[in-house]
Amino acid sequence: MQIYTLTNIHGIEARIMTYGATLVSLRTPDRAGHFNNVILGFDTLDSYLAGVPYFGATVGRYANRIANGRFTLDGKSYQLPQNNGPNSLHGGNQGFDKRVWTAEPIPTPTGPSLRLSYVSAAGEEGYPGELTAHVTYRLNDDDSLAIDFEATSTAPTPVNLANHAYFNLTGDSRNAILDHLLKINADRFTPVNATLIPSGEMREVAHTPFDFRTPQTIGSRINDRDEQLRFGGGYDHNWVLNRSASQPLTLAAVLSDPKSGRSIEIRTTQPGLQFYSGNFLDGKPAGAGTVFEYRTGLCLETQHFPDSPNQPTFPSTVLRAGQIYAEKTVLIFRTDK
Ligand code: BGC
Repeated sequence: MQIYTLTNIHGIEARIMTYGATLVSLRTPDRAGHFNNVILGFDTLDSYLAGVPYFGATVGRYANRIANGRFTLDGKSYQLPQNNGPNSLHGGNQGFDKRVWTAEPIPTPTGPSLRLSYVSAAGEEGYPGELTAHVTYRLNDDDSLAIDFEATSTAPTPVNLANHAYFNLTGDSRNAILDHLLKINADRFTPVNATLIPSGEMREVAHTPFDFRTPQTIGSRINDRDEQLRFGGGYDHNWVLNRSASQPLTLAAVLSDPKSGRSIEIRTTQPGLQFYSGNFLDGKPAGAGTVFEYRTGLCLETQHFPDSPNQPTFPSTVLRAGQIYAEKTVLIFRTDK
């Protein structure tokens, strides 16, 4: 296992390890110029091996849930591991987050980058086709981190790759994220059942706690009496991003922390955003005894919609032999000074 460090001309630093193609830490300045790590992570590999909920990892072959771990493709049925209640979550028992990727540092004119590759055998975790996946992290001197996902397959397969960083812009993972302000560029979200599988409906966010079209603090409505919040134990839902045809990199979200003055703008080619408010972080020791308390990190996972292989009205996630899967997400770091 190796860890690579990317640093840009302003001192922003991203550390990436080959286990899980994982973003281990991300150090950005607050408004006073002090650098802190703004994502949850550990200093040792052992802590990751002890079992963490996908901290900073690249999740695949299919990020998010597939109902009952089952889908049919070209008339053939497939059964995946059911590792999350009745459903398959984040690629099964040994998803891409638990694989060792190969890495190649590539300097570019706009900043340092690291390209990671992993070949997933046909049949691995139940998925058809040998899938060759690449994730490239590029830390640009304009204070942005671009994450490019690419894949090809020898046979038709569902693919959904996403980064699973947990942000805490206060720079101190002991603080809850409930005072962070969040804007999500989406008029609709996909409501779920009690096991977090979408019904297929795309519901208007207007007049619901899911309306983040203007910046709202995460905590302001999280305890509202609302069936969807109850199912998620808070926010754990997919938003249908408002896409503009002329702009392949559409605004997905802006997260900011009024205390530190940090903000991150997220742009993406993906159709969806899973906002997960860290509801399953439970204060139990993780890794080498480190404790992550309830809601001390939040995920903004740009991706395709959950359970797309079983949802004919959702954008397709099928990759066929000869096609190239390519998605991009960019995090732009700012302070309010
Ligand atoms: C899911 C959550 C899950 C978390 C960690 C998120 O992507 O939406 O339900 O608990 O990952 O496993």
